[in-house]
Amino acid sequence: MDDTTADLIKHARVPERTVHHADALAWLRDRGVLRGASVITSLPDVSEVPALGFEGWRAWFQDAAELIMAAVPPEGIAMFFQSDIKRDGLWLDKGALVIGAAGRTGMGMLFHKIVCRKPPGTVTYGRASYSHLLGFASTLRPSLRRATADVLADAGFMPGSKAMGVKACIEACRFVLDETITRTIVDPFCGFGTALAVANAMGMDAVGVDLSARMCKRARMLRIDLGKDRG
Ligand SMILES: C[S@@+](CC[C@H](N)C(=O)[O-])C[C@H]1O[C@@H](n2cnc3c(N)ncnc32)[C@H](O)[C@@H]1O
Repeated sequence: MDDTTADLIKHARVPERTVHHADALAWLRDRGVLRGASVITSLPDVSEVPALGFEGWRAWFQDAAELIMAAVPPEGIAMFFQSDIKRDGLWLDKGALVIGAAGRTGMGMLFHKIVCRKPPGTVTYGRASYSHLLGFASTLRPSLRRATADVLADAGFMPGSKAMGVKACIEACRFVLDETITRTIVDPFCGFGTALAVANAMGMDAVGVDLSARMCKRARMLRIDLGKDRG
């Protein structure tokens, strides 16, 4: 190894990860605008916050989405990974809930991708086999030259059944790196920490929040090897 390479290695910065054990809404209100950051998150399903009841959860979900969009700075983007659910025989489109929140906060939709969590053709009953990956910004507009696919055929490795897939996180982080100057990823509902671990693996700092102490511990520990964990 020559001196220049040794010097580069010595000064290479290891991306940071901080995980806060807190209520995301209180944390976001306290923090205000997340300067220099973009958000990649997955708001909890009604099954994860049963105490709210269905209508209470729906109102809470929309408030949370609005709060996140209001916290994203003009230089950043807000991305949501959400899976539709069936309830009492009717589908609830969580993508539509997030898009409604964007309309109320004056955010424009940069992309709406469909991510297959199960192979196309799989029959599902209570939870769709696809997720929405939606991106929003106030003023930032992406370059047409770097357009990417609307449908991701495979979400990639998921550390848990409600987790984001690694391939979806890579797509989201790649968008941040290519289209924004933000180099910190915030996930206010970080769960296993999939988005945080992928952000770190791609050289960005990561900040997570979760109400569950157990999930915070997992989110601090998770490591993703981009060479191995894409599939
Ligand atoms: C859909 S999961 C997130 C999954 C995550 N994207 C991953 O890849 O593992 C939602 C998470 O939100 C957390 N949560 C629920 N209510 C919360 C709240 N009020 N504040 C912060 N986290 C909350 C749950 O503990 C759960 O880990």
